[in-house]
Amino acid sequence: MSELLSLLIERMGSFVSGEELASKLGVSRTAVWKQVHALKARGVEIEVRRQGYRLLSRPDLLLESEIKKRLKTRSFGRRLYLHQRVASTSDLAKELARSGEEEGSVVAAEEQTRGRGRVGRAWLSPRGGLWFSLILRPSIAPHEAPRITLAFGAAVAKTLRRLYHLDASIKWPNDVLIGERKVCGILTEVEAELDVLTFLVAGVGINANNSTRSFPEEIRKGATSLREELGRSVDRNELLAELLNEFERSYEVFLKSGKGSLLMDWQDLCSTLGRKVRILTPRETLEGEAVAIDREGALLVKTSTGERRRVLYGECIHLR
Ligand code: BTN
Repeated sequence: MSELLSLLIERMGSFVSGEELASKLGVSRTAVWKQVHALKARGVEIEVRRQGYRLLSRPDLLLESEIKKRLKTRSFGRRLYLHQRVASTSDLAKELARSGEEEGSVVAAEEQTRGRGRVGRAWLSPRGGLWFSLILRPSIAPHEAPRITLAFGAAVAKTLRRLYHLDASIKWPNDVLIGERKVCGILTEVEAELDVLTFLVAGVGINANNSTRSFPEEIRKGATSLREELGRSVDRNELLAELLNEFERSYEVFLKSGKGSLLMDWQDLCSTLGRKVRILTPRETLEGEAVAIDREGALLVKTSTGERRRVLYGECIHLR
C-alpha cells in the first residue's frame, strides 16, 4: 500500500492507469483497486476514473517507502513497524526487543492512546505528531545509557535547525525546545542483566503537525509544535528518516570514541547552561545556576551558598 501511494505521490495531480500501477508493483489490477480503496478508507484523497487513479492531495501519513528512500543508515530504521494506533510505541518496542528484535528496529504510530512521558507522566500523542521508539543493544553498563539519549536530544535539535531553520535547543537532560517551549521529549528505558544492558529503547515524541491547542492548559503553555512554529505542515516521513540518519551517526561516534565528542555538540546546543534552574529529583528540590555538564552527562549546579552539586537524573525547570 505504501509503494502504491509513493507512485501516486510521484505523479501527484495526474491520472495513473491501473495497468501501469499493477505492472510497476507486480500485482494484479484487482489488487491495485483493493489497495486504493483501503487508502481511501484511511482518508487519502484519490480520485477514481476510467483512465485510472489520481492523488488529489499529499497525505500526512507515515509510509515505509517514503521513509526508506531517504535513509542513509546501516541499521537504524531498516526494519520499521508502522501502526495506526497503539497504546505506546515504547511498550511494543520493548516486547519486540524481549523476543530478540535486532538493533536499529523502529516502531512508530500515527497515534498513541497511552503514550508515556518521563517520571510516570502521560504523553499526549494525537494524530499528526511523530511518535516512535528505537531499539538499541549497545554493550555498555546501564548507568552509561543516559549519554546515548543526551546525544539523541542533540541530534533532534540539530535536525530541526537544519531542516527548518528553527531556534531549537536542548533543555537538560533531553527535552528539545523552540524558544522556551517544548517540542520534543525523549524517554529512555533499559533492561539489564547483572550490570550489562540487554537492550535500550529510546522513545521519541515530537509535536510535528499536531496542534497543542487541545492540550490541557498547564501543558499547553509550555508546549509548541513544528506546525505552530512554521505556520505550515512538515513532511513527517522526511523528518523521521533524517532523525534516524542523525541518530545513527551520533550513536556510532558514541560507540567508537566514547562520550567526549558528543558532549561538545551538546554544550553548543544546550540552553540550560548559564541559566538559573530548579531541579526536582525523587529526593530533593534544588535551585541554583547550571554551570556545566560533565562527561557522564550530569548537570553541575552552583547553589546560592556557593556549593556545587552534581545531578545525574532529574527534572529541570528554567527559571530565567
Ligand atoms: C518526556 O516526558 O519528555 C518524554 C516523552 C516521550 C514520548 C515518546 S512518544 C514515543 C514513545 N512512546 C511513548 O509512550 N513515549 C515515547
